[in-house]
Amino acid sequence: MTAEASAPTPAFSPWRLNVAPCMDWTDRHCRLLHRQITRHTRVYSEMVTTGALLFGDVPRHLDFNEEEHPVALQLGGSEPEDLAKAARLGAQWGYDEINLNCGCPSERVQRGAFGACLMAEPALVRDCVAAMRAAVDLPVTVKHRIGIDQEESYDFVRDFVGTVAEGGCEVFIVHARNAWLQGLSPKENREIPPLRYEHVYRLKRDFPQLTIVLNGGVKTHEEIAAHLAQVDGVMLGRQPYHEPWTMADWDALFFNDPGRQGLSREAVEAHMVAYMDRHIARGGAWPQVARHMLGLWNGTPGARKWRQVWSDHSLKATSPAEVAARASAARGGVSAARSPVSA
Ligand SMILES: Cc1cc2nc3c(=O)[nH]c(=O)nc-3n(C[C@H](O)[C@H](O)[C@H](O)COP(=O)(O)O)c2cc1C
Repeated sequence: MTAEASAPTPAFSPWRLNVAPCMDWTDRHCRLLHRQITRHTRVYSEMVTTGALLFGDVPRHLDFNEEEHPVALQLGGSEPEDLAKAARLGAQWGYDEINLNCGCPSERVQRGAFGACLMAEPALVRDCVAAMRAAVDLPVTVKHRIGIDQEESYDFVRDFVGTVAEGGCEVFIVHARNAWLQGLSPKENREIPPLRYEHVYRLKRDFPQLTIVLNGGVKTHEEIAAHLAQVDGVMLGRQPYHEPWTMADWDALFFNDPGRQGLSREAVEAHMVAYMDRHIARGGAWPQVARHMLGLWNGTPGARKWRQVWSDHSLKATSPAEVAARASAARGGVSAARSPVSA
């Protein structure tokens, strides 16, 4: 075991820093990339609906890489029994947490009567949580908004949290803006309703025994630190996806673990190249992995040229090591595939 691997686990909340569940983004390849950059940050799956799990291809939806831990499975659904069965599958597969989506505003999700519209039915969410808690021996958590439509009073979200906590939920991840269920696309719903961090801070003051995680619009280390002075944890979605190297300082800054200070982009890229080889051996294609790391070199000279090589699907039949060599040459660096790989 290396000195790095035997470093003590810091005594922080398991939800101190989290990468948000994002459909089409936070698949197993993406989560593995993020895990190369930060060891302690919790990562979340894309939302998987109960229907997809109970009637679909379970391994396709649930398989993950052991290195991803701690990793949470996010479920979408509103039937307590179905959610209990889906949560049981998640536990069997080895996930560390089951999270219920009560924040997604998409019309497709609303037609299924789950996501953000569940905030109007706190007693149902309580029952869903209770059913999942009874089914699995894992934390069952809820991700939600501060309100829906024009409901702007703090009391609404306070009562939602109070009711859902009765079902056994002890961790609430709060996207600090309303979901407007009509007239806005999901993308607009992440940008237009105003952020109200004060509502999230108040939840922590009113429910000190609960773990409250703030989400929405957070980008910088300074912002993370300011929120951590008020709540137990912070979840970030778009910033770490687009700029994964944002996370390179997190272990040292927020988990008091300097073990990875020598980590380099080259080493991360080399690790992902080796992973791409394994993915190809299982029948996959390297662009499925590479698409999540296109922002890895952002902010450094040559990043755009490097990205262009990894985005070039005409190279699909070329080996990842060769693509990496070309990409590195394009940005004026040495080949990542030949750099030493850190653990
Ligand atoms: C492409 C994309 C897909 C998303 N999919 C989900 C999802 O499946 N489940 C969920 O709870 N939130 C989803 N979200 C919302 C994020 O989890 C997060 O709440 C939101 O982006 C706000 O955080 P941010 O400002 O740090 O990005 C998604 C966001 C994006 C950008």
